[in-house]
Amino acid sequence: MKKIIKKILIIGFVIFLLMQLYQPARNESYEQELIANFTKMYDVPKNVETILQTSCFDCHSNNTNYPLYSYIQPARFFMEEHIKDGKKDLNFNEFGKYSKRKQENKLEAIIKQIKSDEMPLASYTLLHKNAIVTPAQKEEVIDWFNKTEDSLSSKY
Ligand code: HEC
Repeated sequence: MKKIIKKILIIGFVIFLLMQLYQPARNESYEQELIANFTKMYDVPKNVETILQTSCFDCHSNNTNYPLYSYIQPARFFMEEHIKDGKKDLNFNEFGKYSKRKQENKLEAIIKQIKSDEMPLASYTLLHKNAIVTPAQKEEVIDWFNKTEDSLSSKY
């Protein structure tokens, strides 16, 4: 019996080691999208920018700030999946490439997601405590996004 457990442990460890070989390309872009960048398009106040940077940009921009544990699989795998899906839905670095209608919809979606505490993802804030959006921060961000959305919709 003991022998079997030892075997299972060794096999498990070998599988873990083999998993480390899978290191997909990192979400890092040194070519910054200047014009289409959300923070260049709008006059984003510093406090709002900081919140977006710490709580959203890891999954919704072209540059992820990778924590140490991200070098270890399977953590990296799940992270890359979130980044891929997050960027597909909303990329703050390429916001200006969306149609005006889509930009408006995204502003609305951002307000909704923050209001309902759906974003940032709970699985992310579990390990990134500093990414938790406090009630006071929530108010600041939603306030600013509401104003921005109003001024955008009155323009078109
Ligand atoms: C850990 C990665 C991660 C973080 C951090 C994160 N998101 Fe997301 N976000 C996702 C993923 C993945 C999706 C795709 C849909 C889903 O899984 O809910 C998504 C979807 C969205 C959507 C939906 C877009 C649409 O059109 O419906 C919005 C809006 C959004 N996120 C806003 C934010 C905001 C604002 C923040 C910061 C406060 C944030 N997200 C932080 C991963 C993340």
